[in-house]
Amino acid sequence: MSIAPVEKKLTPSELRARKGGLPIVCLTAYSTPQARLLDPQCDLLLVGDSLGMVVYGLPSTLPVTLDMMIAHGGAVTRGSTRACVIVDMPFGSYQESPAQAFQNAARIVAATGCAGVKLEGGEVMAETIRFLTERGIPVLGHVGLQPQSVNALGGFHAQGRTEAEAARVIADGKAVADAGAFAMVVEGTAEPVARRLTELVVVPTIGIGASPACDGQVLVIDDILGTFDQFKPRFVKRYAELSGAISAAVSAYAEDVRNRRFPGPEHTYGAAAAPKRKTPASGG
Ligand code: KIV
Repeated sequence: MSIAPVEKKLTPSELRARKGGLPIVCLTAYSTPQARLLDPQCDLLLVGDSLGMVVYGLPSTLPVTLDMMIAHGGAVTRGSTRACVIVDMPFGSYQESPAQAFQNAARIVAATGCAGVKLEGGEVMAETIRFLTERGIPVLGHVGLQPQSVNALGGFHAQGRTEAEAARVIADGKAVADAGAFAMVVEGTAEPVARRLTELVVVPTIGIGASPACDGQVLVIDDILGTFDQFKPRFVKRYAELSGAISAAVSAYAEDVRNRRFPGPEHTYGAAAAPKRKTPASGG
């Protein structure tokens, strides 16, 4: 399917209007070069706090700071002309009160130029979502599995497999939609629950490990490219295996440097005829 040309960035309201229509394509992005590559194909670029693990090598998303999200959010916004850019609010920057959330969300939006923020939580965050949206900050909700609650959950496991869990995900999703979120990420949720939630709410659901029933899909960019291989959840589909290509390129470079094959005259300013030099391989 070809992508219709768009003159300006997609807005949260335009994405909201895609409910039940052409599926929303979303990927995470963390840098300007990445955003430039992804932007033409994506409707939504999410500067996820997954950057804590993917970019910074942290054990979870919990240590990610507002300053990290602002630095990467600005980088992605500068690399995008078409997609709507949404920046994650990091752990501890919004849970205390709607006022705390507004202060930090406003800082993110002003400093990065993004179109809105994402925050995790269902019923418990409804008041905060309403507070932000009524004051001009579009919010992408996040229900189902919520990685920032890893300590409370005791690990990551798919949600919605018991009746109680299913009821929780549905109630959370409805609360987030009623509070004014323009769409919501549904993470790690069993298909029947994701399907039912998608039917029940008037805003798009964007699934990650939440079945094809959702109104759109999101994945972590390094997962689809095969550049993050600490673990690979079942819901990830690899579209490339770039780790192998990167290792091969770096190994060829290292060999060239060690054998004085790089840089060649074509990479050298004012190159003189190079004197013959002994290489470690040639001994002496
Ligand atoms: O932080 C993130 O990248 C996310 C997506 C995986 C939805 O929240």
